[in-house]
Amino acid sequence: PAVEYELEAPFSIEYHDSIGSTNDRARELASEGMTDVVVLADEQVGGRGRLEREWSAPSGGVWLSLVTRPDIAPAQAPLYTLAASVATARAAREAGVDARIKWPNDVVVPVGDEGEYRKLAGILTEMEGQMDRVDWIAAGIGVNANIDADALPEGATSIRAEAGDVDRRRFVQRLLEEFDRYRGDLEAVVPAWRDLALTLGQRVRVERATGEIVGEAVDVTESGALVIETEDGRETVAAGDCEHLRPV
Ligand code: BTN
Repeated sequence: PAVEYELEAPFSIEYHDSIGSTNDRARELASEGMTDVVVLADEQVGGRGRLEREWSAPSGGVWLSLVTRPDIAPAQAPLYTLAASVATARAAREAGVDARIKWPNDVVVPVGDEGEYRKLAGILTEMEGQMDRVDWIAAGIGVNANIDADALPEGATSIRAEAGDVDRRRFVQRLLEEFDRYRGDLEAVVPAWRDLALTLGQRVRVERATGEIVGEAVDVTESGALVIETEDGRETVAAGDCEHLRPV
């Protein structure tokens, strides 16, 4: 294989040189009852992003999906996604990249000091469960690791472009260790997220199903929802697409 992933991680690893989407394989494993398994690929030919977007995933990146069966209520599931973004950002910072988080869980690198950024990594969480209990969560994490700048989608960056190549084995190991730590201590997730947030203090526009909200992002709640100070008062948004606006 292109990468050797003999890891000392608290997850077992299923490695693929090339796959359609690691999230699809993770869903299969989850529905067979597996847990604490990571599907990892050097390349994806059918990578999926949020909001049914395509996700470019050439050889050299870190494309993985983590299957877990946490004993949590569905309302807590967003904390798992935030934990994945915290773990990814922390591993990227150890690789020398100034990684921050754009709400809710894009890992980005700031450009200038007015809230602009390039995207380094994205997270796509899928889950199944009943009203009161999660059955499984598949957290898909895509990191532009050792990828040339000219092979990246517009608005994206890579570890290679920011800091030079990373040892992917070590990077994945650190990412999984960090994720394991935060999933075992969910109360620590939001404080760690706040420390890495690029969105707080920014003027933002958030698109959600019921319309858009514009204002200053002032905090996140204990479940990871964004608190926005608008002209008409404070609003809390649980999910949506967030854009940083230029300061007025
Ligand atoms: C986003 O839109 O920002 C989320 C991107 C998620 C990409 C990762 S790569 C590994 C996993 N497999 C997929 O098909 N998607 C996720």
